[in-house]
Amino acid sequence: MDKSKVLITGSNGLLGQQLRQQLSSNFFVIATGIGPDTSKFKSDKYVEMDVSSFDQCQKVLYKYAPSVIINAAAMTNVDDCERIQKRCYNINLNSANNFLPYLVEKKPHFIHVSTDFVFNGYKGSYIEEDKPDPINYYGFCKLQYEKIILKHCVNFTIIRTSLIYGLNDDRYNFLNWVKENLIKNIKMNIVSDQFRTPTFVNDLALVINDILYMKKYGVFHISSGEKLSIFDFVCNIARHYGLNDDLVKKTNSTSFNQFAKRPLDTSLNIDKAINILKFKPTKLTNALTKIS
Ligand SMILES: NC(=O)c1ccc[n+]([C@@H]2O[C@H](COP(=O)([O-])OP(=O)(O)OC[C@H]3O[C@@H](n4cnc5c(N)ncnc54)[C@H](OP(=O)(O)O)[C@@H]3O)[C@@H](O)[C@H]2O)c1
Repeated sequence: MDKSKVLITGSNGLLGQQLRQQLSSNFFVIATGIGPDTSKFKSDKYVEMDVSSFDQCQKVLYKYAPSVIINAAAMTNVDDCERIQKRCYNINLNSANNFLPYLVEKKPHFIHVSTDFVFNGYKGSYIEEDKPDPINYYGFCKLQYEKIILKHCVNFTIIRTSLIYGLNDDRYNFLNWVKENLIKNIKMNIVSDQFRTPTFVNDLALVINDILYMKKYGVFHISSGEKLSIFDFVCNIARHYGLNDDLVKKTNSTSFNQFAKRPLDTSLNIDKAINILKFKPTKLTNALTKIS
């Protein structure tokens, strides 16, 4: 039997690469990304596709005719999104329109990866039905993208996730950044009044695989469910690798000047995923043990 064709956008990113590794044995994976393939995880096919280009999206989608599309492409630097809003708009919001003709006509399963930053962070422990109210441009664009999908698509799954971490030596991610700074004895000011539910990238890719098999549609929150301040998250990483956590200095959102406003508590309640998808998140300490 022919394998189903799964197209992944942003496949050189942290999640995109993990998806390639996770899905390649059971699906025909068409990995796409900006520029050449930079991943060590190979897939059945790699094609350049800029999600902000209508022409490129039409050409690739209609040529390869995937029955599943996983949208892991995004401009993910929150401060850059605030500074360079036009670029953020094109990639994180308007690119939805570049997929619509195919989504509406062919009705593939469209899995879109969204963010905890659609919430304002005043409440925390957000469930899927809570009212989004983003406080920065990144969150605003990601929410508008969700709205386009909700309005026009039928077979969609929107996954809202939070602070993704994992092993990925060949490109920047939060875990590498913390490790590298501490190894170089660089002092780090880390906020203790912003709370997240960090997400192990392997868990996220695995649950996407399950969503495909189970054909589950709708909105799901996916994270570890373990609420941690960013300060505690960083200290846990430092201790796990035997690095000097005295270099991690506590600060707060008022004194730590970030270009884009950050929501305080965007912890995600993952009960729906646990009940419906039988999602089993990995705790931070276990995840760090697995990847080190
Ligand atoms: N990272 C987090 O903590 C976090 C938290 C919540 C939600 N999310 C969401 O999770 C998803 C995956 O994030 P991630 O952590 O894997 O981010 P990532 O490592 O930054 O990967 C994003 C990928 O998208 C690519 N990309 C950027 N612009 C593009 C364009 N115009 N066309 C095609 N590809 C483009 C990037 O290309 P380059 O390789 O050239 O950079 C990169 O490979 C995103 O939707 C993000 O918004 C992430």
